Order: sequence, then structure tokens, then C-alpha cells
Amino acid sequence: MEKTFLMVKPDGVQRNLVGEIVNRFERKGFKLAGAKLMQITDELAENHYGEHKERPFFGELVSFITSGPVFAMVWEGENVITTARDMMGKTNPLEAAAGTIRGDYGITVGKNVIHGSDSPESAEREIGLFFNENDILSYSKQDSEWIY
Ligand code: GTP
Ligand code: MG
Repeated sequence: MEKTFLMVKPDGVQRNLVGEIVNRFERKGFKLAGAKLMQITDELAENHYGEHKERPFFGELVSFITSGPVFAMVWEGENVITTARDMMGKTNPLEAAAGTIRGDYGITVGKNVIHGSDSPESAEREIGLFFNENDILSYSKQDSEWIY
């Protein structure tokens, strides 16, 4: 089954949104495969956001994402990469639809509460950056026959 990497950013942790965000993906029917509260190092931040190295806001992005703990997660389910991005809403919270996470909880693009992988390639890369294989669990849940 498809997996994606999602992360509550430092603003979401500070604003007590971890439970709310986990709740949304659980209730959707996705399965949590791994999770940890962690402090991102500069090295990991620069690697994770490597595609944005040349952007003017790169320094700001790295200092923000390392400014406090993040809640890193691996979620599993059919089409979870695209569906999680839809549930997150547009990058700029002011453009994100109401009912999405960024639409409901954010105001500025630099503090937009959550990160999610944008493709199968980035999901694989980001899961590998943040998690050891042993920390991603494969298990069955009794609700799956009521979801699929
Ligand atoms: P992520 O899931 O965090 O990767 O967001 P995204 O895929 O919706 O957007 P993208 O990868 O293009 O940008 C990565 C992050 O950079 C965004 O989530 C924003 O927090 C941040 N960002 C994007 N544009 C700006 C900007 O103009 N200024 C600042 N400060 N941050 C920006
Ligand atoms: Mg991105």
C-alpha cells in the first residue's frame, strides 16, 4: 500500500495541533505506520528542503523548520500521497480552502502548519531521511475491511 511522509511543523506543535492533525488522517481511514516528535538538525533541514536551495526564502525555511520540535509521521493508504496533499490545502494558507488543514489553521506561507510529500519519489526519499526501516510498522487493522 502507498505511503507518504507528513510532518506537523514547529508552529503546529507549538499551537497544540498535533492531535487535531493526527485525528483528521485517522478518521479519513489512513493508517499510521510510524511517528516521532523530533528536533530537526540544520543538515537534515537543508537536505529535506534541498529542492528550494536557490529560493530567496531558503534560509528562513531552514531556520523555521529547526526552530522547535516537529511531529514526523508515515501514513499508509490507497492514494495517500495525493489525498493527504488535498487535505493539507494549498501552500499559502490564505489560498487554501476552508476545511483543509492550512485553510483552517494557517495565515502565512512561512508558517503553514504541515508538510506532506508531493510525489511517490519524494515520499520515498523523505521517509528514508526521517525514519529507520525498523521504525515503520507493517500491521493489519480491524477497521480496514470497513474502509476498503
Ligand atoms: P511543503 O509540504 O512544506 O513542502 O509545502 P509545499 O509542497 O506546499 O510547498 P513548497 O514545497 O513549494 O515550499 C516548501 C515550503 O516553503 C512551504 O511549505 C512554505 O512553508 C515555504 N515557502 C514557500 N514559499 C515561501 C515564501 O515565499 N516565503 C517563505 N518564508 N516561505 C515559503
Ligand atoms: Mg513541498
